[in-house]
Amino acid sequence: MDFELKTLNLDGAASEKCDVLLVLVDESFKPASDALSRLAADAVKARAFEAKPGKTLHAWRATGVQAPRVLLVGCGDGSPRRIHSAVHGAVASLRSGVRRIAICLPQAANGRAVRAAVSAVAEASYVYITTKSKPEACEIEKCVVGCADAAASKADFEAARGAAAGIAVARELGNLPPNVATPTRLGEEAKRIAKSGGFQCEVLGPREVEKLRMGAFMAVAQGSDEPLRFIVLRYQGAGASDAPVVLVGKGITFDSGGISIKPSPEMDEMKFDMGGAASVLGTFRALAELKPRLNVVGLVPACENLPSGRAFKPGDVVTSMSGQTIEVLNTDAEGRLILCDALTYAERFKPRAVVDVATLTGACVIALGGVRSGLFATDEALAAALQQAGDVALDPCWRMPLDDEYGEGLKTQFADMANVGGRPAGAVTAAKFLQRFAGAYPWAHLDIAGTAWKGGAAKGSTGRPVGMLVEYLLSQQQAAVARKAAPRSAAPRKAAAEPAARRKRSAKTAA
Ligand code: BES
Ligand code: MN
Ligand code: ZN
Repeated sequence: MDFELKTLNLDGAASEKCDVLLVLVDESFKPASDALSRLAADAVKARAFEAKPGKTLHAWRATGVQAPRVLLVGCGDGSPRRIHSAVHGAVASLRSGVRRIAICLPQAANGRAVRAAVSAVAEASYVYITTKSKPEACEIEKCVVGCADAAASKADFEAARGAAAGIAVARELGNLPPNVATPTRLGEEAKRIAKSGGFQCEVLGPREVEKLRMGAFMAVAQGSDEPLRFIVLRYQGAGASDAPVVLVGKGITFDSGGISIKPSPEMDEMKFDMGGAASVLGTFRALAELKPRLNVVGLVPACENLPSGRAFKPGDVVTSMSGQTIEVLNTDAEGRLILCDALTYAERFKPRAVVDVATLTGACVIALGGVRSGLFATDEALAAALQQAGDVALDPCWRMPLDDEYGEGLKTQFADMANVGGRPAGAVTAAKFLQRFAGAYPWAHLDIAGTAWKGGAAKGSTGRPVGMLVEYLLSQQQAAVARKAAPRSAAPRKAAAEPAARRKRSAKTAA
C-alpha cells in the first residue's frame, strides 16, 4: 500500500482524484460553502446521515466532487480510537474495483488521528492469500490521507506507515501454516528482513545452540524432526557504545503440548504460538523502514513442541544456559523453557532494557481477553514507556504484578525450580519463572496469548504488539537524544524510558 499525506480541507478534497473519497465527519462538524460541506450538511438535515460512530452514507457522482464515490463516515468525538474504527469499517466495506482511496479527516484531527487512519487502512486492507489457489486480493493500491496540517502530522504519519509495514510482516508470518512457517523459514525471513534494512542477522542451528548449553531450549526442540533455530538480529542506528534494547520473541512454530498433549479442538491455532517471534521480526521490518537512531537486538528461539520417542517428558530435569536446573512437570509449559535461555543469552549485549514477547499462557487470555496484552516489568520507567507506547499506538497493555509470593509454586525437591506453578494466577507464575533469568537488566515481559491472533470466523494473526514495540523504540530514540543533550544530568537507567521526552513529543501533536 502506498500512503501519501496531504494538507486537505473539504474544498481541496472535492478535487482529489480517486475511486472513493472517505469524508470523516465528527460531531463538531461546521459546514462551509464547499460542495462536500453542503452534501454533508444536507444529509444531516434530511436525517440521512449523522456524525455518530458507525453511521455512513454513500453518494454517487456528487455535484462538484471529482471522486465518483463519496462515503460520509461518522466518527463521533473524533478521538483516535473512533477514527480508527470508522476508517476500518469503511475500508472493510469497500468492494472490488477500488484502487485509489482518499480520506479527508476532520479539521481538528491531529497526528494521532492521522496515525489511526493509516493503521486502520493497512489493517482493513490486509488479506491472506499466500496458500490459496484462487486468491482474492485487496485491490487498494494508493491511499491519500488528508488533514488540516500535513507538516505537523508528518512524524506520526511516518511512524504509522513504518509500523504498518512491520505489522503486515507479523500477520503474514503468523498466518502461514505450520508446515510452511517452520523454524528454518523464520530464520530465512529474518535474513531477508536484515538484508533489506542493511543490518546483521545470524541464524544458529542445533550444533551452535548445544555449544551455548541452552539445555532448556534444546529439550523442547528434541521431540521434533524440524531442526531448531536461534535467530540474532542486530540493528545499529546509534554508536557502538550505545547500549541496545533487546527484544526476545517466543518462536514455537507449532505447540502440540508435547507429551502433555493438548486436546484436539482448536489445536490448529497453536500455529500462532510464534506470534512473539513474528512481532520481533515485524518490528525489525519497521526499523528497516524508519531507521531510528538507537541500537536494537532481536532474539528468537524457534522450534516445534511435539511428542515423539525422543521428546522430553514430565519429570525430566534440564539444565538451562544460566546453570539453573528445571524440572519439567508439564511439557506444555514450553514457552518459558525456550525463553529462559534467550534471556540468559541477552546478557552479553549489556542491554539498556530487555523486552520479551510471548503467547505464553492461556491464563492471560482468561485474565485480559483479546483487548490488552499482559505487561510484567521489573523496572518502573520501562513499564511506563511500554504502557504509553501501547496507548499511543492503539495497541494497549495492562500491568500485572510480580510479587515474590507468586513464585512460591515453582518450588520442587528435584531441581532449582519446576516449569509450572499451580493453576491460580498462571500468567503471573509464568512471568515469575522468566524473572529468574532476567536479573541482569531492566526487564519487561509481554504475554500476548490473547492479543496475537483472533479465533473464530475472523481467525487470523493481528500483528500485535508490533505497533506498541515500534512506538516504544521511537520513544527511546527521543530519550537518547535527550540524554545526549544533557549527558550529566540524567542517570542512564532512568533515562532509558524517559517519560518527559515522550510527553514533549506528544504535546506537539495534542489537539
Ligand atoms: N502456547 C500456550 C499458551 C496459550 C494457550 C496461548 C492458549 C493462547 C491460547 C503455552 O505454551 C501453554 O500451553 N501454556 C500452558 C501452561 C500451563 C501448562 C502451565 C497453558 O496456558 O495452559
Ligand atoms: Mn504449550
Ligand atoms: Zn506455547
